[in-house]
Amino acid sequence: MNSEAKSLFGVKGKVAVVTGGGSGIGSMIASAFVQNGAKVYIASRKEKQLQDMCEALNKKGPGSCHYVVADLTTKAGCDSLAGKIKEQESKVHILVNNSGASWGAPYSNVPEKEGWDKILSLNVKSIFYLTAALTPLLAKDATSFDPGRVINISSVAGFLSTSTGSKLADGDMGLWSYGTSKAAANHLTVLLSTTLAPKFITVNAICPGVFPSKMTAFGIKKHGEDGLAVGNPFGRIGHPRDMAGVALFLVSPAAAYVTGNHVILDGSGMHSRLKGNL
Ligand SMILES: NC(=O)c1ccc[n+]([C@@H]2O[C@H](COP(=O)([O-])OP(=O)(O)OC[C@H]3O[C@@H](n4cnc5c(N)ncnc54)[C@H](OP(=O)(O)O)[C@@H]3O)[C@@H](O)[C@H]2O)c1
Repeated sequence: MNSEAKSLFGVKGKVAVVTGGGSGIGSMIASAFVQNGAKVYIASRKEKQLQDMCEALNKKGPGSCHYVVADLTTKAGCDSLAGKIKEQESKVHILVNNSGASWGAPYSNVPEKEGWDKILSLNVKSIFYLTAALTPLLAKDATSFDPGRVINISSVAGFLSTSTGSKLADGDMGLWSYGTSKAAANHLTVLLSTTLAPKFITVNAICPGVFPSKMTAFGIKKHGEDGLAVGNPFGRIGHPRDMAGVALFLVSPAAAYVTGNHVILDGSGMHSRLKGNL
């Protein structure tokens, strides 16, 4: 009765684009896909970082890793990346919109350009324009049992009601634009899921708690991984395996019918803390 369950997981032979795949969470996902046989394009601004990651992942195999240099803060940058992918591939199975940035500043002195414009451009606008530009390739040959997949890397910050006091930021710094951008990314995920369902493309968001990366390096250095895990019932921060597992699930045959969801990936950190504070 359950014989089809044997082939429920896997990305062998799939073509994936992972933005920001040269570091942090993007590299965790790119590595998981390559180790499971996918052909992965990673894309961001720093060529050396992308080259080094490609080299490391190609050594691991059995899939392959390639890179495109791209700045995704503008529509032109998103279109340029999509154009370069189109020169190489006629079909893309998976898009992971992972590139993101945050900006901490005191409430009375948040710079407009770096503090708001760049954060909203990269964390929200690029999701829309890159997904739109790659929609024809994601839709090509897609079926209701083998749909194209989009994963947006959002954050638990999109649900939190406070923007100051984070151990990831210094002193009185607040992350107003970051939380706002991730709440917007969550809603955009739902809007894109309904837009793209008729084309057989799923769109889901992963909302991580703390994972080790350049973005969290300041907090990890200051408080240690254990310090950042205080209040988390699992007593730890996220591990690359945790990220790999959810990403692989969302792009596998197992999740063909899963769309419009926000997967909170934080060992109950957010909900447990909220409960404790009520
Ligand atoms: N780490 C966490 O605890 C955590 C928790 C929740 C959500 N997230 C989210 O996870 C995603 C990845 O962040 P991370 O934590 O892995 O930090 P990270 O290592 O700093 O990764 C950010 C990535 O975005 C790329 N990027 C930055 N500006 C860009 C631009 N203008 N155009 C294209 N790419 C750009 C960076 O590459 P270049 O510098 O080469 O451009 C880098 O690879 C972000 O969306 C972040 O908000 C992280």
